[in-house]
Amino acid sequence: MLKNKELEEILEKIDLNEAPPAEEPMRQYYFMKKAQMLVKQKSEELGRPLTYHVTTFGCQMNARDSEKLVGILDEVGYTEVEDENADFVIYNTCTVRENANQRVYGRLGYLHSIKKKKPHMMIALCGCMMQEAQVVEKLKKSYSFVNLIFGTHNIYKFSELIVTALESDRMVIDIWKDTDKIVEDLPSERKYAFKSGVNIMFGCNNFCSYCIVPYVRGRERSRNLKDIVREIEKLVEDGVKEVMLLGQNVNSYGKNLEEPVTFAQLLKEIEKIEGLERIRFMTSHPKDLSDELIEVMKDSKKICRHLHLPLQSGSSRILKIMNRHYDKERYLTLVKKIKTAMPDISLTTDIIVGFPGETEEDFLETMDVVKKVRFDSAFTFLYSKRTGTPAAVMENQISEDVMKDRFDRLLEEVQTIGREMSSRDTGSVQEVLVEEVNEHDPSLVTGRMSNNLLVHFPGDASLIGNIVSVHLDECRGFYYMGTKVG
Ligand code: 5AD
Ligand code: SF4
Repeated sequence: MLKNKELEEILEKIDLNEAPPAEEPMRQYYFMKKAQMLVKQKSEELGRPLTYHVTTFGCQMNARDSEKLVGILDEVGYTEVEDENADFVIYNTCTVRENANQRVYGRLGYLHSIKKKKPHMMIALCGCMMQEAQVVEKLKKSYSFVNLIFGTHNIYKFSELIVTALESDRMVIDIWKDTDKIVEDLPSERKYAFKSGVNIMFGCNNFCSYCIVPYVRGRERSRNLKDIVREIEKLVEDGVKEVMLLGQNVNSYGKNLEEPVTFAQLLKEIEKIEGLERIRFMTSHPKDLSDELIEVMKDSKKICRHLHLPLQSGSSRILKIMNRHYDKERYLTLVKKIKTAMPDISLTTDIIVGFPGETEEDFLETMDVVKKVRFDSAFTFLYSKRTGTPAAVMENQISEDVMKDRFDRLLEEVQTIGREMSSRDTGSVQEVLVEEVNEHDPSLVTGRMSNNLLVHFPGDASLIGNIVSVHLDECRGFYYMGTKVG
């Protein structure tokens, strides 16, 4: 990560009369400068600044990618606006479930109507959905008004793609099947001043049989430990107190580095960074969660008391077909180990209902795990068939009625337990990182506890970004009302 000033100095020295350099990130700095020039010209022509709007679908990984897109857009001279009536609209898409795709097609119809009135408007689509060949075919055929399509592997060359798209009157498409490349030192613009996502790895090698992610995000690649630590040190210098380490399966971090390191070792290094107060991470795969990690978490002053541990199903039979590499007993044993080491930990999970062949008995196994573990909260999903995954061609796809019925029963159970679990800290005093002034009541601020729950309490904007002690007066479902102490 570069500081703005460092970047300005580099851009200053670039001569656009020369050919673009071949090596990264210099090549991107060259195109950043070129895009700056083109954006300036267009904005002089229109007599106003050019605007952009980025919409992000999907997970934290996409949210982080969007911060990189925004960092580049700001640098090349676009101004952010709240709605899609902008000069440049970017959709960073998700394809993990079919309804995510449908939402994008729906929104594109609306964008087309804006573009008809504003022909110079640029529309770009990127992210996971673009990695699917049939999606790109459909866009080429029926959505030819889209200017730029790129995928998950080449976000780092957004500056170059902007220049190509600005200079072209046809749809520009740049999708890579996979990559082993990780480009460091590009700008990014954080949504919050005091917290930031940090990618520690990209891609996934697990091939859970229902999941499209390994096909759209490619093979697992870890960033070097030193690059990660350096990025966090710079973030901390810049005012960041909390980092969220991001990867599809953080527990297998570092396995394929030249000098292999474990995720637990990475955490120990990050813990040493002075000024950093909180460390979170996401997502943990139960099959790779080591005793070493539990030890490091237990002894840590900075790692938050929250673990997201996707269960997916409680049936050992289904877990096997899902290719999850653990069974019901192993999951329960792991949870026991974690809770013994850290009794105050908050556990959250992901559960899919209606996986092909799931019987009522299989479903009851899932309910059983939910009751035994008592998750603080759970994201529950209806199984969604993803073309190209092994599960999509399995027999016994479950009917919608059955799926919905199981979904409703599961939701009821996880919510009842979640409410009970959430309220267990009532009356105690907790450290809270203040995030924002409350949206509905400006006399309150909203902050997050170590266990990831939100607390609302009287305060003002001067508290944002500070960690304060708050008495938890009352639990209201999944959040608390509190009072600042001291
Ligand atoms: N159908 C439903 N849910 C899915 N997930 C991943 N693939 C699918 C699918 N095909 C869920 C998993 C994962 C979360 C991010 O999305 O529970 O943990
Ligand atoms: Fe998908 Fe499984 Fe990889 Fe998670 S671990 S991204 S569910 S394949």
